[in-house]
Amino acid sequence: MSRINPALLQARKNPDQPIVCLTAYTAPMAAILDPYCDLLLVGDSLGMALYGMDNTLGVTLDMIINHTKAVMRASERACIVADMPYGTYEDNADQALTTAQTLMRETGCQAVKLEGGVEFEETISHLTRNNIPVMGHIGLQPQSVEKEGGYKVKGKTDEQKEKLFEDAKAVERAGAFSVVLEGTIEPVAQEVTKAVSIPVIGIGASVACDGQILVTEDMIGLLQSRPPKFAKQYGDLKTVIGEMVQTYHREVQAREFPTADYTYHAPHAPGQKSDHKSKTAA
Ligand code: KIV
Repeated sequence: MSRINPALLQARKNPDQPIVCLTAYTAPMAAILDPYCDLLLVGDSLGMALYGMDNTLGVTLDMIINHTKAVMRASERACIVADMPYGTYEDNADQALTTAQTLMRETGCQAVKLEGGVEFEETISHLTRNNIPVMGHIGLQPQSVEKEGGYKVKGKTDEQKEKLFEDAKAVERAGAFSVVLEGTIEPVAQEVTKAVSIPVIGIGASVACDGQILVTEDMIGLLQSRPPKFAKQYGDLKTVIGEMVQTYHREVQAREFPTADYTYHAPHAPGQKSDHKSKTAA
C-alpha cells in the first residue's frame, strides 16, 4: 500500500470529505489509527500526553525522532508529519533546514510542521526550496505559551484577525502544503480557510476548515489534565484502564491470577494441553 503524500493532501482543498488527522506517538497507537487517518502528526504535544510535561517546550529533537520512527514502522497508509520542536528552527533558516533534513533522513517521515506565520515565511520558503514538504501552524501556537501568558483563543480582535490572514498568506506563499489553524473563533477560521488555496486543518477552529486534527489522548480520554473546550472525548479510556487494573489487582491479591490457563506445565501433566501447541513462546 502506498502512503498518502503531501501533494495529494494539498490537492484536497474544499474537499467533499474533510481531511482526517490525529496525533500518534507510538507504534501500537499508529497501527490502530492508520486505516482511518489521512495524516498522522508526531506532535510535540507528546511532551504533555506521554511525558507528563507542563507544556511542549521541553520536547527534544531526539524524542520526536524516536517516536516518529515508531509511528513509521507501524503505519502504511497515512501521511506522517513530524513536529519541529521548540529551539530547533527559530535561529535562522539554515538551522531549520538542518533540523528538517535530520527528521526526514532519520525517520523517513514525509513532511515537517513548524509553528509561526509571517516571521517564518523565509524559513518555510528555504525548506520548501530544498524539497522539504512543510505544514504550517498558525493561530494559537503552543510553543509561544510563555510569551503569551497562556493558551489564548485567537481572532477576537481586528488586530488578531489581520495577523491571522497575514500569517495564513505568508505560509501559503512560502510553499507549505497545508496549515494547522489552532484555537480560532469560528467566523475568522471560516474566512481564513476561504482566503488561502492550501488546506486548512483546524483544531479548535470550527467545522469550516478543510480538515480536523485532535490530540489522540484527548479524544480517547487518556488525559492527565482537563482537556481544552474543543477536544471532544469519544471515550473514557482512563476509566476503562483503571477498571482493568483494579480487576488485576484484586485477582493477584486473591491468588485468582494466574490460573492454569496462564501457567507453564510440566510435560504430559494429566489433564493439561501441551504448551507446545500454544502460539506464544514455550
Ligand atoms: O503537537 C501537536 O499535537 C500539534 C497539534 C495540536 C496540531 O501541534
